Parts: sequence; C-alpha cells; structure tokens
Amino acid sequence: MARFLDQQKQMAFFYAEQDAACYDDTVELTQPSYWQLHDTIVDLFRYHFGAWTTERAAAVRCSVLDVGCGTGVEGFRLLDAFPSIHLLGADFCQPMLEQFERKLAAKYGTAEWPSKCTLSLLDILDDGLNAGTILSSLPQGAPELKAIVTAFALHHYTAEEKLRAYRLFFDLLPAGGLLVYGDLFSYESPTVASYAQLHEERWILDSFSNPNEEVRGRLGEMAKNTEVLRELWIEHLRRYNLPTPIEHGWTRPHGSSNGAPAESEVLLLRSAGFVEIACPYRYFQAGIIWAKK
Ligand SMILES: C[S@@+](CC[C@H](N)C(=O)[O-])C[C@H]1O[C@@H](n2cnc3c(N)ncnc32)[C@H](O)[C@@H]1O
Repeated sequence: MARFLDQQKQMAFFYAEQDAACYDDTVELTQPSYWQLHDTIVDLFRYHFGAWTTERAAAVRCSVLDVGCGTGVEGFRLLDAFPSIHLLGADFCQPMLEQFERKLAAKYGTAEWPSKCTLSLLDILDDGLNAGTILSSLPQGAPELKAIVTAFALHHYTAEEKLRAYRLFFDLLPAGGLLVYGDLFSYESPTVASYAQLHEERWILDSFSNPNEEVRGRLGEMAKNTEVLRELWIEHLRRYNLPTPIEHGWTRPHGSSNGAPAESEVLLLRSAGFVEIACPYRYFQAGIIWAKK
C-alpha cells in the first residue's frame, strides 16, 4: 500500500507540495553534495552509453524513466546530454510536476516539449502499478525504455517498500538495462552512520542559517523565510528519513550479527534480480548506486 496518503504527504513532502515554488532556489541548502551527485549521475550515463562525443551522445536513443523527477533537475541534465532520449518523469506531487512542465515549456516551447518528455503523476509504491501501466504512459513511437534514474526520492521508504520498487524497476528494464540510483544512504558501521546523519543535519542548520551572498541574492525577499524552511527540513530529516546502509556483511564480526543491519541496499537490489551492483560515489549520506539487470 502507498505509504503517504494525502494529508500525511502534504506534511512529509512540504517542499514538494505547498513550497514547491521555492524548491529550485533552496535545494542546494539541503544537501552538501547536491550538484556533484547530479553531475556524477550524468557521467555514469555517459560511461554506460559510451557517449563521450556530441555525435555519440546524440545517437543514444531510448526512453529513460525518472522516478521522483521533481522539478526536473536530473531530467534536464539528461535531456541536455543526450538530446535524442525521451524522458518519462514520474512524481506523486503535482506541484513539482507543474514546476517541471513550466520549465519544459520555457525551454522547448509548449508544442515541442511533449516530444522530449512525458510527465506522469504516480506513486511508485502504488499497489495497482506494474511495468505495463508505466510503459503505457509513454507516447506512441517513443523509443524502448532502457534506463531508470532516481535522485533523492526513495530514502523515506522501508526495506520492504524499497524492494517492491526495485522489483518494479527490474521488470521495467530489458536485459543489460541500467538503474542509476542517487539518494541518501546509511552505513553498516553504527558510528559512521551517526556521523553521516549529523553531517546532514549540520549542513542544513549552517546553510539555511547563513546562506552565502549568491544564494541570498537569488532568494531576494524569500531569504527572510530561510529560518522557517530550515526548521521544516530538520523536522523532515529527523522524522521521515530512513536511509538504508548500502554495504552488507563487510564488518560483521565473525559468527555474530551484532551491529549488522538487517538489510542493505546491495541485498535488496540483488533480491530484486539486479546482477551488477556498485557504489561509484559516496559523500556521507549522499551516494549513487549503479545496478544493472
Ligand atoms: C527531494 S525531491 C528530489 C527531486 C529531484 N529528483 C531532485 O533531485 O531534485 C524528491 C521527489 O520524490 C518524489 N517522491 C517521493 N516519493 C515518491 C513516490 N512514492 N512516488 C513518486 N514520487 C515520489 C517527491 O514528490 C519529490 O518530488
């Protein structure tokens, strides 16, 4: 069953509902490595597609599903890097999709953007959802879906819920298809897990309390609200974030399960069927998992 029903979704995802219009201007205050993680996602796609030159990047023709696409940050970067892909952006918060659509229309024109991107309002954990329903939202003539990207969207879910989403991702991909999964993760080591959580909290406290001149200038009048947003983000992080460790088994003392997590991203992705799983990027809680079918 979907975890966040309407009223709870409004509270947990305040930044994607009532405050969606400030998301783009304030998101870098919420994450120490927000831009670096997004740059690395595009780099990983370049490696996967072997597309380092403009010609080769333009020849990449497939559909890419973006789960929790928000206002389009990774979506625009992928569309810029690979101009012949079709992006299927899925999100369960309508105000985020509205921001994304406004930007698509400004960049490509109202008549043109639907040939580049399809936006779909859906909860990836909805019981009624399956690969067929998602694929049927692609327009006729859209190329085959060969990759899935998701950024900062799944860290609110339990292991069981994530496994459901990973099985769906697996079903959606052809053999050799790729999942690039950037998000907040924890550590098997309880000590490092708590450092990483503290690092996340301190970043939010510092950056919203003292936004730099450039951010202040960009925020204009809204800069006055940064303290309110800071409290909302801290509450969100403490109450709703459930980061899972990526690694599994490395530090488990021989013959004991003390301190070892009950699950890990590697195990969950393996159970869903993914065969090649790696973590090419990590910075405290932020990380990218690369998983191939
Ligand atoms: C922090 S934002 C990230 C947006 C964008 N990917 C980025 O990196 O800026 C998380 C997004 O995931 C969406 N989301 C969270 N859970 C979801 C679910 N179960 N189904 C669809 N979208 C979801 C939220 O609505 C929100 O727009």
